[in-house]
Amino acid sequence: MSSSVRVAVVTGSNKGIGLAIVRALCQQFQGHVYVTARDSGRGRAAVETLASEGLEPMFHQLDIDDPNSVTAAADYFAEKYGGVDVLVNNAGIAFKVADTTPFDVQAEVTLKTNFFGTRDMLARFMPLVKPGGRVVNVSSLLGSVALSRCNPALQERLRSEGLAEDELAGLMRRFVGLTKKGEHKAGGWPETAYGVSKAGLTALSMVLARRLSKERPDDRILLNACCPGWVRTDMAGPKAPKLPDEGALTPVYLALLPPGATQPHGKFVSDKKVQPW
Ligand SMILES: NC(=O)c1ccc[n+]([C@@H]2O[C@H](COP(=O)([O-])OP(=O)(O)OC[C@H]3O[C@@H](n4cnc5c(N)ncnc54)[C@H](OP(=O)(O)O)[C@@H]3O)[C@@H](O)[C@H]2O)c1
Repeated sequence: MSSSVRVAVVTGSNKGIGLAIVRALCQQFQGHVYVTARDSGRGRAAVETLASEGLEPMFHQLDIDDPNSVTAAADYFAEKYGGVDVLVNNAGIAFKVADTTPFDVQAEVTLKTNFFGTRDMLARFMPLVKPGGRVVNVSSLLGSVALSRCNPALQERLRSEGLAEDELAGLMRRFVGLTKKGEHKAGGWPETAYGVSKAGLTALSMVLARRLSKERPDDRILLNACCPGWVRTDMAGPKAPKLPDEGALTPVYLALLPPGATQPHGKFVSDKKVQPW
């Protein structure tokens, strides 16, 4: 395969917003578009669904919680395409409000995927992103709400232009550790594992965008976090107002920012507009 073929990769795209993002990219992106899923059966079923609509996505297994899976996928895209042009980190989890799993377990499990799994993806895939590439991290406005409920010192660090990736990862680990002792509130954190995981992901997006600007300025890669809105999926339930295809609009807008664009970069975007952080 010639590395001149462009390629877009969407994590967690066997259903929900991820599947809708692949659908839109199949229609609008010039190149190969990959459904990826932790479960190959569910992933291939999604490819069949899109094929029945006349679209031609491709498939690769990818579990963002499994370092071997992340490495195997990265090696595949490096070898077959010489890198990636578009990476959408969409995979995520959320416990239902009514779930009775202890909060500390919810915190550990939620941050493992939404923050640490996505961070592992970025660590392995960022070096593969080609010049002119686009990276989109599907975060949530609930991350911004969680940030506003952190104590002033945490808010200052999570918003700081001086925040380092290691420091951020340490803060996320500290949140999980405090939940185990029931001390997260005293430590200045809000009572939301999902919100903290997405606050961490939005902050991470800003840290990595600043690093790109510093270390690869000539590559003009744009990296942003976004909220898809409240979308009717297995995660958000039947009362959510937006259809998955509507939830895909902002992630796809960011994935397809035109060549030569310089903004947005390192921002949190909702409804195609940069939001305060
Ligand atoms: N829906 C909303 O209102 C809303 C609002 C704000 C942000 N978001 C964010 O949007 C993204 C998509 O959410 P959704 O509503 O489409 O949820 P969804 O329907 O539950 O889909 C989540 C997807 O992520 C996958 N996934 C979970 N853990 C994974 C892992 N370790 N490795 C690879 N894939 C994994 C799931 O795969 P399986 O099928 O194997 O479980 C599924 O394909 C999430 O990041 C979510 O936090 C959603």
